[in-house]
Amino acid sequence: MKVLGISGSPRKNHTTDLLVKAVLDSVKVETEFISLAGMQISPCIACLGCVKDNICKLNDDMQGLRQKIVDADAYVIGATNYYSMLNGLAHCFLERLYQFRHNEGKAIAGKLGIAVGVGGSNGDPVVNNIKTFLQYNQIECIGEVSAQGAASCFTCGYGETCKVGAVHMFFGPDTKITPEIIPDLSKQPEIIEQASELGHKLTERLKGFACAT
Ligand SMILES: Cc1cc2nc3c(=O)[nH]c(=O)nc-3n(C[C@H](O)[C@H](O)[C@H](O)COP(=O)(O)O)c2cc1C
Repeated sequence: MKVLGISGSPRKNHTTDLLVKAVLDSVKVETEFISLAGMQISPCIACLGCVKDNICKLNDDMQGLRQKIVDADAYVIGATNYYSMLNGLAHCFLERLYQFRHNEGKAIAGKLGIAVGVGGSNGDPVVNNIKTFLQYNQIECIGEVSAQGAASCFTCGYGETCKVGAVHMFFGPDTKITPEIIPDLSKQPEIIEQASELGHKLTERLKGFACAT
């Protein structure tokens, strides 16, 4: 049994990575974490080159991920909230699961998934987007978790004065940026607890898989 954790955030070691890892930390079977940051993953171009053999013919970093996806029994998929939807890199990755859909999608159908969303406000829309992708690929979503990450406005240099940025949005004008107000996963213990519970739940479900085979 193996669980593959994928973070679609373009920022390494930020909240999405940490939240995906928080789920994996409680999984009691083999796990592997992969960050998509820096990877070149194109959108699906609907060439249908994958129809006959369920193998995408686009030559990019998705090729190296394909076998890991096939080999895993479950997925913990994280993405970030960009414009109230999941970020482009994660979207491209999930689009490319299309290669598995033909001929009843046997390579990944029936596996388990957990949706992880992070946003400057929250990751709720992202979680819903990921759940849709999982459903289309016949992956059963057994849970979700959403957290607040640090919007770039806290560190871009204009955060205290910019009227359309996250600092004004969350705290109003004349706010001084101090470390205390910068969102951080460690300040959301209830979310870490939820992630941990999901890891345990996934382990239990996978035990059921192992017994059935
Ligand atoms: C292009 C862009 C658009 C964003 N749009 C939103 C948004 O619509 N809603 C939101 O809550 N956060 C938004 N954010 C903030 C990110 O979701 C936030 O920084 C989050 O922490 C990113 O996850 P990460 O820390 O794992 O990289 C946006 C950030 C970027 C770069």
